[in-house]
Amino acid sequence: MTIYKVVEYPNPRLRIPSKPVTEFDDNLRQIVENMFETMYTSSGIGLAAPQVDIHKQIIVIDLTEDKSDQKVIINPKITFKEGSASIDEGCLSVPLDYRAKVERASHIVVECFNEKGEQYTIDATEELLAICLQHEIDHLEGKLFIDYLSGLKRSMYEKKLSKYQRYKRRAESAS
Ligand code: NI
Repeated sequence: MTIYKVVEYPNPRLRIPSKPVTEFDDNLRQIVENMFETMYTSSGIGLAAPQVDIHKQIIVIDLTEDKSDQKVIINPKITFKEGSASIDEGCLSVPLDYRAKVERASHIVVECFNEKGEQYTIDATEELLAICLQHEIDHLEGKLFIDYLSGLKRSMYEKKLSKYQRYKRRAESAS
């Protein structure tokens, strides 16, 4: 088992669009297992492959606290969207544990595959799942939740982040 290193914004590799999975083999199942471990280690509820520098359409989600509902979402397509909802979103790839609300659909339907290559449908009527899916599917297209922020909110975050990065660099060069 491997815990992957999570790629953080503003690393441009987060912007690379992911390719569909074509081989549902042991290598894929290993990646999925490692992604779950990486997500649990960071206390996340969702992780998309580009966040660990793998540019394939693979997502793992588990909204439970006891690791009891592992969802593997491969090559997803959103086929239905309705309503609107927003929660304070965060992302393992967005530093400083920054959180902000993003307008999303409250109910979506996703067609996808599991790690065995079986096609299935997720009818996400629950807001948290619907939002989480939209957030992770965005990752596959190189999109981050902070891309939806207003200009002012975004620039406030960028300022905070560059201040933190300057501080980090100074701390690193001093050690
Ligand atoms: Ni994210």
